[in-house]
Amino acid sequence: MSFSAFLTATPHFALQCTHQSVSNLRELIPSENEGVNFCKRLTIKCVRCSGKNAYLCAMTKILFICLGNICRSPMAEAVFGHLAAEAGRTDEFVVASAAVSEEEWGNPIYPPAAAMLRRHGIPYDAARTARQMKASDYQRYDLIIAMDESNIRGIRRITGGDPEDKIHLLLDYAGEHRSVADPWYTRDFETAYDDILRGCRELLESLPRQS
Ligand code: 4NP
Repeated sequence: MSFSAFLTATPHFALQCTHQSVSNLRELIPSENEGVNFCKRLTIKCVRCSGKNAYLCAMTKILFICLGNICRSPMAEAVFGHLAAEAGRTDEFVVASAAVSEEEWGNPIYPPAAAMLRRHGIPYDAARTARQMKASDYQRYDLIIAMDESNIRGIRRITGGDPEDKIHLLLDYAGEHRSVADPWYTRDFETAYDDILRGCRELLESLPRQS
């Protein structure tokens, strides 16, 4: 199998190497594997290498989903990333977020959600903008974590099903089978933050540490 075919066939692996020039790596990466994973990994030291010209490391790719991708899922993306960093586990994860709707496409994180992150000392990417989930995200990510039950229905409409059992409700990880209430409607960003923090803590705990 060619290297490109291997990368395409194994979405739970991502390129992770500082030993190659950017141009060399670009030549090796099929276009469908370009994007956040590729860009984020370039500066990270390779810890588990294989192959002669490229280095692959097992990573868990997590996509957080909500309705608009401007409140709950970007908060979850930032909170999970922060918890992983605090645990010294940044290299183990690719974390992103998306929407089931296209309502907010191109919009930045909603200011009250951003304010909540700042208040709790959670770094976030102020330049990131909302996007709608695509069917191809199902193969690209290992876990697709929804904020509420209606998100799960929306995700399933986009993906056409869940044959690999990747779609889960965030608070199920905290032993609570319920939704993170949408602060866009409740205006209660503190409760949403608390729920997201609890869910993300338990989600991280549920994923075995890579040695
Ligand atoms: P989110 O909140 O799903 O947590 O990002 C919403 C943001 C915007 C809208 C709905 C929910 N909206 O209808 O525009």
